[in-house]
Amino acid sequence: MSATSMEQLISLCKRRGIIFQSAEIYGGLQGVYDFGPLGVELKNNIKNAWWKSMVYERDDIEGLDSAILTHRKVLQYSGHEDTFSDPLVDCKQCKTRHRADHIKDNKCPNCGSADLTEPREFNLMFKTSIGPVDDGTNFGYLRPETAQAIFTQFRNVVDSTARKLPFGIAQIGKSFRNEITPRNFIFRVREFEQMELEYFVEPGTDEEWHETWKNERLNWWVEQGLKRENLVAQDIEGDDLAHYAKACFDIEYKFPHGLEELEGVANRTDYDLGNHTKAQNEFEITAHVHPNKDSNAKLCIRDEVNNKWIIPYVIEPSAGVERGVLALLTEAYEEEDLGEGNSRIVLKLKKHLAPVKVSVIPLKKNHEKIMETCFEIKKRLLKLGIGRVSLENTGNIGKAYRRNDEIGTPFCITVDFETIEKTPASVTIRDRDTMQQERIELDKLEEFIRGQFI
Ligand code: GAP
Repeated sequence: MSATSMEQLISLCKRRGIIFQSAEIYGGLQGVYDFGPLGVELKNNIKNAWWKSMVYERDDIEGLDSAILTHRKVLQYSGHEDTFSDPLVDCKQCKTRHRADHIKDNKCPNCGSADLTEPREFNLMFKTSIGPVDDGTNFGYLRPETAQAIFTQFRNVVDSTARKLPFGIAQIGKSFRNEITPRNFIFRVREFEQMELEYFVEPGTDEEWHETWKNERLNWWVEQGLKRENLVAQDIEGDDLAHYAKACFDIEYKFPHGLEELEGVANRTDYDLGNHTKAQNEFEITAHVHPNKDSNAKLCIRDEVNNKWIIPYVIEPSAGVERGVLALLTEAYEEEDLGEGNSRIVLKLKKHLAPVKVSVIPLKKNHEKIMETCFEIKKRLLKLGIGRVSLENTGNIGKAYRRNDEIGTPFCITVDFETIEKTPASVTIRDRDTMQQERIELDKLEEFIRGQFI
C-alpha cells in the first residue's frame, strides 16, 4: 500500500483540473471519468512517451490507429463473445450486483446479507446497433481491447511495410468494458485507454521474448518515475490466465488501495492470428482455434529459413493509460513540511510528464512592460517544442508557486522590475523540487530550458 491516499489524489485532481467525474452535474456516470485541462496534458505526455519508446526509438515496430466500432465476427472468432465475462452475483436483499471474486465470507459487500444468488457469467462487452435498422441483428461492439484490429490488419501491415519477424505493431486507443463494479477512482473504469504492443515472433522463440518484454516494460515504468520497489512482476497461472494466453506476467504497482495490475505482458501464442485465419489446416497452429468459416485472410508470414508460411506467435505488453496516470500521481504526490507551520503539496513528476513545463509569472499584474516581456518569453519557449508553457497574470507570486508545485510544473520564471529596467535583462527561475531561485540572463534562458527538457 502506498503512503499517498486515494482521497488526497481525488481531491488534488478535482481542485487542479486533472480529473472530473463524468456527467457530474447529473449525478455522475459510474465508472466514467473526464480528463480536465491538466489531465489531458498528463495523459498525452504518458502516451507520447510510450509511443516514442515503442515506435520512434526502435526499428522493429510500426504504429496503427484502428476503429473502436468492431465487427461482431472479429469478437466471435477472438473468443470474446463466448468467454470475455466475469462471474456476477446478485444480492437478493439489497438488489445490488457484485463480481463473485470480490465477495468475502459469502456476504454482500453492500449490506452484509448472505442471501446471494449463485454466480453466473456476465459478458463485459458493450453491444451497439450499427446502421439505421435496429432489428437486433445489425450489431457490433465497442472494442474491449485495441489488440484485435492489430491481428485483423496483420497482413495489410506486413504487405505494406515488408516486415520480417520479429517485429511489432503498436496502438494507443480507447477500450470499453461494462465492468460489474467499477471502483477505486480511475483504476477500474468502463471507458479507458490502452497502450498495446503486439510483438510477432517465431514460434519457439516466444518464451525468451516474453521475458525480454517483461524486463523492457518494468524498466520503462521506472524511467517514467515509478520506484522499482513499488513494482512487482507477478507470474499468472492456470485459471487466472485470459482465454488466449499461454503465460502472462502482470506488472503490479502499489496503488493507494493495494498492489494491483498496472500492465499485463501476455504470451498469446498463435491463438488470435490462427483464429482469424482461413484454411487453418494449411498451417501448424498450436493454439486451440475455432474453425473459421467467415474469414478470407491468411494471417501468416513467410519463414525464409524453412521455406514455408507460418503463423507467428505474439507477445503482448498491454498497459492502461488511466492506471498509468494513477500510479504516476501516487508516486509523485508529496506533502512536504517546510517548518514553522508551513507545508506544501508538490507533484514530483518527471519533467517530460509534467502537464505544464514552465510557468511565466509577472511580478505585477497587468503591468504593460512586464507583460510584454512575459509574452515574449512564452513565445520563445514554445518554439522549443517542450509542451505547455503557461502565463499566470495573477500578481500573486506565492500563490502561483504553490499552484505550480501542486500540478508539478518543473520551473517558474518570474519577470520583475529588474528584468525590464536593468541591462542585461534577467529573470528569476525557480526549481520545483529544491525551491531554489536563481537569476539568469534572458539571453541564456532558452538554452537553459532546452537543456532541461531535450
Ligand atoms: N489486450 C490485452 C488486454 O486487454 P487486460 O489485462 O485485460 O489485457 C490490459 O488489459 C490493461 O488494460 C490492464 O493491465 C489495465 O492496465 C488496463 N485495463 C483493463 N481493464 C481496465 C479497466 N476496467 N479500467 C482501467 N484499466 C483497465
